[in-house]
Amino acid sequence: MRIVVGVGGGIAAYKACSLVRKFTETGHDVRVIPTESALQFVGKATFEALSGNPVHTGVFADVPEVPHVRIGQEADLVVIAPATADLMARAASGRADDLLTATLLTARCPVVFAPAMHTEMWEHPATIANVATLRAHGSTVMEPASGRLTGADTGPGRLPEPEEIFALASLLLERSDALPRDLEGRRVVVSAGGTREPLDPVRFLGNRSSGKQGYAMARVAAQRGAQVTLIAGNTIGLEPPAAVEVVHVTTAEQMGTAVDKHSVGADAVIMAAAVADFRPVNVAAAKIKKGAHEPNSIELTKNRDILAGLVQARRDGQLGGLAIVGFAAETGDEHGDVLTHARAKLARKGCDLLVVNAVGEGKAFEVDNNDGWLLGADGTEQALDHGSKALLASRVLDALGPLLR
Ligand code: CTP
Repeated sequence: MRIVVGVGGGIAAYKACSLVRKFTETGHDVRVIPTESALQFVGKATFEALSGNPVHTGVFADVPEVPHVRIGQEADLVVIAPATADLMARAASGRADDLLTATLLTARCPVVFAPAMHTEMWEHPATIANVATLRAHGSTVMEPASGRLTGADTGPGRLPEPEEIFALASLLLERSDALPRDLEGRRVVVSAGGTREPLDPVRFLGNRSSGKQGYAMARVAAQRGAQVTLIAGNTIGLEPPAAVEVVHVTTAEQMGTAVDKHSVGADAVIMAAAVADFRPVNVAAAKIKKGAHEPNSIELTKNRDILAGLVQARRDGQLGGLAIVGFAAETGDEHGDVLTHARAKLARKGCDLLVVNAVGEGKAFEVDNNDGWLLGADGTEQALDHGSKALLASRVLDALGPLLR
């Protein structure tokens, strides 16, 4: 695919280098178009070396090739990172005073802006209006991350991490439409990762969940406008998604407490976490040693089912019209195939939607891609085609939208 990476003049311009690399490493043809001021932060040679293509900022290089029209027309995706307040203002008003803004005017493909600026600039009414205009024009303007900005400031305005911009940009290539802002004003709770049930201070019972699917759910929901709380169990060192509140927990019990607390007043809960069904009855205060008192078995007791508890609380009228989504990682066995088990689980759990993944060698766990089925309590069954975990998340949110009260 032909990807244009536009780079605005902000200190986060250096992060555009990793983004360019991600696109070239995944086989895309990348053109980098910096603004003049972006070159104050990163040299032209760096972008040329990383992309393998010439880099220009103005419309008067290679004039016979009409690059200010051609590059935009031929692009499959344009990603602007960092998108500064000034660059978004120029793009929103349709200016074409350099190669990047001219390219934005001629592009008819998905366009993603990844903003980076100081919090005051992000929250200024002028920027808010420009973001709204760009979104109304069909562009996807990402929510920035919160955290340390240049200098001592903290707050929303940090460039989302390159992995996150790449994931969202790739999702737009897969979806081939702009990301809807259909979850604006909604509160969504997502659980992710595996729980760990301690045996002693150094050992635990755990599972192979990486948290990637749950993080993708949280990320895509936030970028569709939702206010997201992510209850994260153990994950493989994932970066917190931009504009998402992350609550870290370890055990199933802690996860249950956090989910219950944050579900109050929420519009939807998505239980993507792999919650341990059992925990050891005894947790040793000191490390279990070889020698005189070696244990030869672990006695287990059942953990409560968080998802089933939410369904029950809703039946009891405690959670309003909360929409509830469960996940099921299934294998076929002598009693039935994956879908047979999944249908039974949906009925047993009583949630509104069940996302079903077939698990086994190289499937679902730890990998970046996923597929499966989406079963609805109303009997609908939809195949979720193979694609990124962000794509699967997006399909689930497409189905969740109409279920929100
Ligand atoms: N779940 C939960 N609390 C538990 C166990 C599971 O909330 N104690 C949730 C998971 O987050 C997931 C769904 O229930 O959304 C299904 O999880 P799964 O482990 O497949 O279900 P189980 O009820 O454990 O089913 P089984 O062991 O019979 O396969």
